Order: sequence, then structure tokens, then C-alpha cells
Amino acid sequence: MTMEPLLLPNIPDYHKIDVYQSRGGYEMLRKALGMKPEEVTDEVKKSNLRGRGGACFPTGLKWTFMPKQTDKPKYLCVNGDESEPGTFKDRQIFELNPHLMIEGTIIAAYAMGVKTSYLYVRGEYNKWIKMVQKAVDDAYANGFIGENILGSGFNTNLYLHRGAGAYICGEESALMNSLEGDRGYPRVKPPFPAHFGLWGCPTTINNVETIANVPLIIKMGWEEYSKIGAPKHPGLILVGVSGHVNKPGVYEMPTGVQLTDIIYNYAGGVPGNKKIKAVIPGGSSTMILRGEDIEGVAMDAESLKNAGSAVGTAGLIVMDEDTNLIKVITRVTKFYYHESCGQCTPCREGTGWMFKLLKRFENYEARMEDIDLLLDVANNIEGNTICALGDAAAWPVQSMIKRFRDEFEKRTLNRAAAMSPPIAAS
Ligand SMILES: Cc1cc2nc3c(=O)[nH]c(=O)nc-3n(C[C@H](O)[C@H](O)[C@H](O)COP(=O)(O)O)c2cc1C
Repeated sequence: MTMEPLLLPNIPDYHKIDVYQSRGGYEMLRKALGMKPEEVTDEVKKSNLRGRGGACFPTGLKWTFMPKQTDKPKYLCVNGDESEPGTFKDRQIFELNPHLMIEGTIIAAYAMGVKTSYLYVRGEYNKWIKMVQKAVDDAYANGFIGENILGSGFNTNLYLHRGAGAYICGEESALMNSLEGDRGYPRVKPPFPAHFGLWGCPTTINNVETIANVPLIIKMGWEEYSKIGAPKHPGLILVGVSGHVNKPGVYEMPTGVQLTDIIYNYAGGVPGNKKIKAVIPGGSSTMILRGEDIEGVAMDAESLKNAGSAVGTAGLIVMDEDTNLIKVITRVTKFYYHESCGQCTPCREGTGWMFKLLKRFENYEARMEDIDLLLDVANNIEGNTICALGDAAAWPVQSMIKRFRDEFEKRTLNRAAAMSPPIAAS
């Protein structure tokens, strides 16, 4: 199924508010404001939209967790911290369609009775921060944010907050601590953000792309939207393709497109027509797949789960037959080691141990038993930390050992055998 792009439409100057409005922009907000807030939530719930921030959590359901009767202020955080290696799709929304995200934010705020929303943008995204701030200012100036929006009597504010320059600040509870001005340490859950979030008040956290899908649902109606793509994980998805492909970039598509289709048709195939050795389907934290195993696997939650991986943030990294996978996993692990906030011992110590062990493999200094030692360290991180950064560090290592054990074996102390050139055919 191909569809015209709606998240990133190919329209010149679409990021400008007058162009956006001339194409029906902010009409979905008008429509939503004419509905009851719970009807808006219901529409999103029935659409089966699932979060695009990594966990594929049902968005409408998440919104229903917000208490209806409360004396406390309610908050919405739109998560644009986007710091996972291989993931670079939210910045396309910032650049090409910021008003869709802003419109989605105001609709979500209306649905949940939120008076203050924060848009948390990755600190290094200088260019995009300026672009998004301009879009927010224009939306205020045109009466789409602020007091008595479109004469509805609904008031809400939206503030852009520059991220603190750490991957951990994308984790929802660390993000809230960061927003409050504290160190970006994840919080123990429960209590969950819907009851005890920002400043102890009810809070919802949604990814930028998730929120950008909301106006499309309001426009089409849940029934039509839910027919797009994979039935259990429907809608439009932005897939960032990088690595060994001829045309790396962000591609919009319905969920459920085959990985081979994405690599060969959308991203133009592998340079030199080389074979694919491995694929990371959803950003560096998702489990690596062998190239020969991606046939028949699609970019949706069920299909990738069955294949032993996950959609994550749909950052598809392609590696050809000449890739040194030990180098790849060492680099990925270095990232998690560097980004661990240090709060939980298994993650703080374990990521460092994994990195040191992997360095041994990289240098042909590892013993054969180091493979199981490495696996043991990863297994002791997984599930033993406050937040999922520990899992995100363990999964790539576990899956690499499971699916490419031979690569580790080749890199043990038996250096001479590993490095001897193949016998030439006479
Ligand atoms: C270490 C770590 C980093 C994360 N970084 C991001 C991020 O940059 N952007 C994001 O939307 N979600 C990120 N998440 C997931 C968020 O905690 C949260 O699940 C998400 O923002 C919810 O949005 P969604 O329901 O719309 O997917 C991260 C999670 C972890 C554990």
C-alpha cells in the first residue's frame, strides 16, 4: 500500500504557517474543539495509534490514565529529545511540518484538559530549535495557542524547552526531572506520570511523531485511519534508513511495509549490490537481525516481535557483508556506557564491563569463555535497572551473541588463525 505523505508532505514552504493554513492546517484543531474532550480521546483510542517513541504503547489508552477530576494542574510533554543512534525522524517534522505537531499538541491538550505543554527538544538541535520556536511564535500570533483558542473558551500554553544534552533525558521521567531543573535521573515507577509527573502533577509524555499523527486521525476519523497499514499497529510511520544503502534518509510509509521493500525500493538498495549481513530495525537499542532472516519481516510491532526484535523508533540501520560487527557492537556499547546516568549499579558498572570485554574482542585479546562472560554481564543488566537504558544497552549485545556468535569466536586469542588469509584457489 503506498500513500501520499501526510506527516512530511512534499509541499514547498509547508513549515510556514500561511502555507500550512492554506492547505487546511489548523482546521483539525477547529474540528476537535467542536467535539467533547472525551470524544477526542475516544477517537485516538479507537484509531489504535501506538506511540512512535519506542515502546509502541497505545496512545489513546495512555490519555485515559490522566485523571478527569483533579485540583492539580495537568501537563503534557512532547518528547523530541531524539538521541538514539540511528534515529533522526522527529527533526524532519521540526523542519518540514512543525505546525502539524503543534496542532496535535493543542488537540491533545484539549482532550486531556492540559493548560501547559512542554516541547522538549534535543539540546544539540540548534537549527531545529530556532525553526520550531518560530512556528510556536506564529501559532501564538495567529491565536492557535494561548487564550480562548478559536473562540472556544479553551486556554492552553506551549513552551519549547531545550534539552540538557544527554540521551537519558529522553526517558520520560528523566525528562520531567530535567524540565524541573534537576539532574536528568529517571524516577522509580510507580507512581506513574499520569498521577505523579511534573512537579508531582498529572502528566502525559508523548513522542513528537505520535503527536503529529493526532490531527490526521481527527481529519480522517478513527475508522479510516485504523485501516492504514498493519491492523494491530496502524497508521503512518517515519522510517529513518541509514548505513549501507544508496539513498539514506527518512521515508514516510504505512506501517507493515516489508524491510526488504524499505531497503531496496525506498532506500535504493545496497551500494555495489553487496549482500546484507545484518540489520538493526528500530534504532541502536533494538535487537540485531541476520540479513538472511529479514525476508518476510515488516516494519510493525507484531512482525518485528515475531522476528525477535522491535520497531523501536524505526531507525533502520543496514550493514553489508563487509561490516565488522564487533566494531559496530563495541561502538554501540560505548554509547550506552557514556550515556548511562550512573544511578543504577548494574547499568553504571555493567555497560563499562561490556565495553571493556568488547574491546578485548576488537583487539583479538579475548578468551573463548569471554563470550559467555559478556552475555552474563548483559543478562545481569537487563531488567535490573530503574529505566530501560539498561535494557537498551543489553539487548544489542545479547542479540549480537545469539545471532553472530561466530563473529566473536573469530576474534578470540586465536589471532593467527583468524587473521590468516584464505587459501587462494590454484
Ligand atoms: C534511555 C531512553 C531514552 C529515550 N529517548 C526518547 C526520545 O528521545 N524520544 C522519545 O519520544 N522517547 C524516548 N524514550 C521513550 C520515552 O521514555 C517514552 O516512552 C516516550 O516518549 C513515550 O511516547 P510515546 O508513547 O508517544 O511513544 C526513551 C526511553 C529511554 C529508556
